[in-house]
Amino acid sequence: MSKRKNLLAIIGSATSASANLKLVEEIARMTANDFEITIYTHLKTLPHFDPELSVNNPPEEIIAFRNAVHQADGLIVSTPEYIFSIPSGLKNAIEWCIATTVFANKPTALITASANGQKAHEELQLIMKTAMAKFSEETSLLIQGIKGKINEEGKLKDEDVIIKVKKLIEAFSVML
Ligand SMILES: Cc1cc2nc3c(=O)[nH]c(=O)nc-3n(C[C@H](O)[C@H](O)[C@H](O)COP(=O)(O)O)c2cc1C
Repeated sequence: MSKRKNLLAIIGSATSASANLKLVEEIARMTANDFEITIYTHLKTLPHFDPELSVNNPPEEIIAFRNAVHQADGLIVSTPEYIFSIPSGLKNAIEWCIATTVFANKPTALITASANGQKAHEELQLIMKTAMAKFSEETSLLIQGIKGKINEEGKLKDEDVIIKVKKLIEAFSVML
């Protein structure tokens, strides 16, 4: 049997009771035989992006975040939309990496799970394309109305979403 892939999941939500977090935890259960998913939970405590420190003197937390991205076999970014955009915490973390190549050619699944989420999903794809992450239409998924499609335990209640998540996992597995 081949070794399980180490994935880093970055949750864009600023809420601890996040539907995106529950969704990624559910994906971790669904893929437990193939993926070992580490959920990055420190977005909120990262310092604000500072271009004067980014290249020559990045803060320790940023070095740790970059290393976690670099060492992962692949990434899952799962995020809500905040005010028609990706949440500032997620954008901040990506800004700290843009002078590096940690995202370059990194197999990535992009999930926007939100009330609407369309703008954030487009933006997330543009940003991650700029960061040169490796993703495709098949490893990108917009889930609208997420709150009504997942329960408290993180079980997906919507057949259509379950099928789409399974397809995303399949496409992502091939990319890894
Ligand atoms: C500050 C803020 C702004 C929001 N703006 C949007 C928005 O523009 N579009 C949208 O679809 N949902 C918006 N929402 C709703 C969230 O997308 C929704 O609550 C989502 O389920 C949150 O995901 P989470 O449970 O993973 O945090 C906003 C929520 C917050 C807290």
